[in-house]
Amino acid sequence: MSKDLQFKIDGLKASVDGKEILKGIQLEMKGGEIHAIMGPNGTGKSTLASAIMGHPKYEVTEGKVLLNEEDVLEMEVDERALAGLFLAMQYPSEITGVTNSDFMRSALNARREEGDEISLIKFIRQMEAKMKELEIDPQFMHRYLNEGFSGGEKKRNEILQMAMIDPKVGILDEIDSGLDIDALKIVAAGVNAMRSEENAFLIITHYQRLLNYIKPDYVHVMMQGRIVKSGGAELAERLEAEGYDWIKEELGIEDETVGQEEEFQVPMNTTGPKL
Ligand SMILES: Nc1ncnc2c1ncn2[C@@H]1O[C@H](COP(=O)(O)OP(=O)(O)OP(=O)(O)O)[C@@H](O)[C@H]1O
Ligand SMILES: [Mg+2]
Repeated sequence: MSKDLQFKIDGLKASVDGKEILKGIQLEMKGGEIHAIMGPNGTGKSTLASAIMGHPKYEVTEGKVLLNEEDVLEMEVDERALAGLFLAMQYPSEITGVTNSDFMRSALNARREEGDEISLIKFIRQMEAKMKELEIDPQFMHRYLNEGFSGGEKKRNEILQMAMIDPKVGILDEIDSGLDIDALKIVAAGVNAMRSEENAFLIITHYQRLLNYIKPDYVHVMMQGRIVKSGGAELAERLEAEGYDWIKEELGIEDETVGQEEEFQVPMNTTGPKL
């Protein structure tokens, strides 16, 4: 089986307002793989997603993020998107004045050469087809981006964008929060339909339930701005049943959050599974 995609986060450290939040993240994904990141609140999961995407608030102080051996941290934010990174956000922003379809068409055309823009008719067909798959009302095409969307509608719209753009690396930050059971299945089916050897997904979630529908190859636990434990899908099941205390005990962690005034250091720096 060819594994065409390589995505490697290598020793990533990042700070916000001078406070170090990411303390050396090590993670490697290959084409066709799905990795889940779990972990208590405030342990650096969304910060990891933002730092990878180049959110200006987060200053990367060390490390690399390699997409097929190219360091995306050297790229501007728009270049990262063009290179194939996509983030479905925990809290998608509302943009008044820009319709969903205008936004999508610009995003697609930004990926094409000048003069080779997608035709309006082809674009509309594509968008309508994906909206149908994700059971999104066709009128959402003409609504302003996320404005007045319910929590679940925003999340579905993030997946719609991802399905249209077809990224190499899709990062989903709590895509399941706010989704009702039916929507959860639809969103999961959307992600599963996109899976191929040419892409990989990093799924941040609090709940094992999503992972019943999107089967992860690896599950990583974040605490104190590091990946402190990695395993297979069974790790998520154990977390669902037992919570995080056993990991904290195992590693001697008292406070799992990051960026607080006083911190207890993780005594060992686990490097994750051998992939
Ligand atoms: N822009 C920011 N400004 C100030 N502090 C921040 C910022 N971004 C993150 N932090 C802090 O970094 C820590 C980690 O936040 P992060 O959002 O990465 O956590 P998380 O693991 O995604 O949590 P949750 O599960 O609740 O979404 C928190 O203490 C948070 O307050
Ligand atoms: Mg978060």
